[in-house]
Amino acid sequence: MGKVTVMDHPLFIHKMSLLRDKKTSSKEFRELVKEVSMLICYETTRDLPLKEIEIETPICTTKTKVISGKALALVPILRAGLGMVDGMLSLIPAAKVGHIGLYRDPETFKPVEYYCKLPNNIELRDVIVLDPMLATGGSAIDAINLLKDKGCTNIKFVCLCAAPEGIEALSKAHPDVDIYCGAVDEKLNDHMYIVPGLGDAGDRIFGTK
Ligand code: PRP
Ligand code: URA
Repeated sequence: MGKVTVMDHPLFIHKMSLLRDKKTSSKEFRELVKEVSMLICYETTRDLPLKEIEIETPICTTKTKVISGKALALVPILRAGLGMVDGMLSLIPAAKVGHIGLYRDPETFKPVEYYCKLPNNIELRDVIVLDPMLATGGSAIDAINLLKDKGCTNIKFVCLCAAPEGIEALSKAHPDVDIYCGAVDEKLNDHMYIVPGLGDAGDRIFGTK
């Protein structure tokens, strides 16, 4: 089974509480999603390999380390995953970005694919899939199936708010995928929304409700 990492930094928890509050406007919500995405990016990239280089400081020559140029791709699941891209890119600006469009059918709760555009040679990159919400897990599972069909072998999944049901389903379907969650909530309700959650992430980011 993949590793499940849950954010425990006080700054992250504070900003998640602001995100959950229904009084938070779309403008503030978008800004907060960007900030928490930066914070979770820090955790998600903890295992990036380093290489040694030699540089000159103003004082002397020294050996030091830099990221070894690992090729990364971010793949947000549309729409809500888009909100996480800027924050992640501010820490890993060289990453390429692909897009997978899925919406959850309101009656069956199953994901329906409507768009897919991925960077060339995505199979050579380490892929970080982004979606603020992991509810039943259906959308994440389908997006990762699609990436694996394209040959991707090194995939992480990053979300801000997860239901235990979603974590279980995703871990079972893709045991090789490490999951990074902002928070793990209590449960899903009858409409398959996360409780207490933060509502419909796409609608709150884009102000569509
Ligand atoms: C939401 C969310 C996830 C999915 C999670 O997207 O952003 O993609 O639901 O649910 P699941 O784990 O049960 O699949 P939604 O279908 O509302 O589309 P949107 O991002 O366009 O609003
Ligand atoms: N999608 C959302 O945006 N929120 C939920 O709670 C569940 C699915």
